[in-house]
Amino acid sequence: MPTVENSAPVLAIDGPSGTGKGTIAGRVAGHLGWHTLDSGALYRAIAYVAVENDITPDDTLELENLTRTIAVEFVHTADGLNIWLDGRDITDHVRSESGGKRASIYAKIPVVRDGLLSRQRQMRTAPGLVADGRDMGTVVFPDAFLKVFLDASASVRAHRRYNQLKAKGFDVKLRALEREIADRDAQDRSRTVSPLIPAGDAIVLDTSEKGIGQVFAEVRKLVEDRLASGQDYLGQV
Ligand code: C5P
Repeated sequence: MPTVENSAPVLAIDGPSGTGKGTIAGRVAGHLGWHTLDSGALYRAIAYVAVENDITPDDTLELENLTRTIAVEFVHTADGLNIWLDGRDITDHVRSESGGKRASIYAKIPVVRDGLLSRQRQMRTAPGLVADGRDMGTVVFPDAFLKVFLDASASVRAHRRYNQLKAKGFDVKLRALEREIADRDAQDRSRTVSPLIPAGDAIVLDTSEKGIGQVFAEVRKLVEDRLASGQDYLGQV
């Protein structure tokens, strides 16, 4: 029998950085009145706390403990999702590109990924969840009713991230960012646990030549068509 957590439908949106996943996930969730899961923010928060507490990537016992106990909270604001930890707003520390690089290093570790699985699945509550990340469709929610994999050329993604980080007040250089994003993506794609790849049943959308409004319209249409097709979307996890 499906439980409360796994009975809600999930839309999985995966892809590399700079494809607009977070923005699309937020817009689609707003449109549907569903919850969101920004799984990258979880990895960013874990990595931030690990480094702050001198927990190295090979210290699996400490990492397992940290992943189980970390009290991270997400607060929706006009500027996006803010990340709070033990009463401290750590958003600026984790949203930088160095925060992404740090997250990618700790995201390779199996105890970290295993520890975050149940935390992510618990966020699957009615009326539905829009989850974005790298392994939403392949590992965390393999029974998602729709899996979208957003992609774009490396240079388009670097420009988008550059504009996004600049707008948030970060001091960034385009060339350095291009290299950092390429390294992070290579690391995410080549790791042995939950590598960044589209699920076999994902719909891949190349957003290189598309504005955010067009991508939103396409994803919304995919969602509406799938929901209207009347299949049973109860989870099987
Ligand atoms: O999505 P975002 O750029 O915030 O993710 C930061 C990093 O966290 C990614 O580069 C990736 O290494 C890791 N991540 C992951 N699995 C997810 C989400 C993020 O490994 N589902």
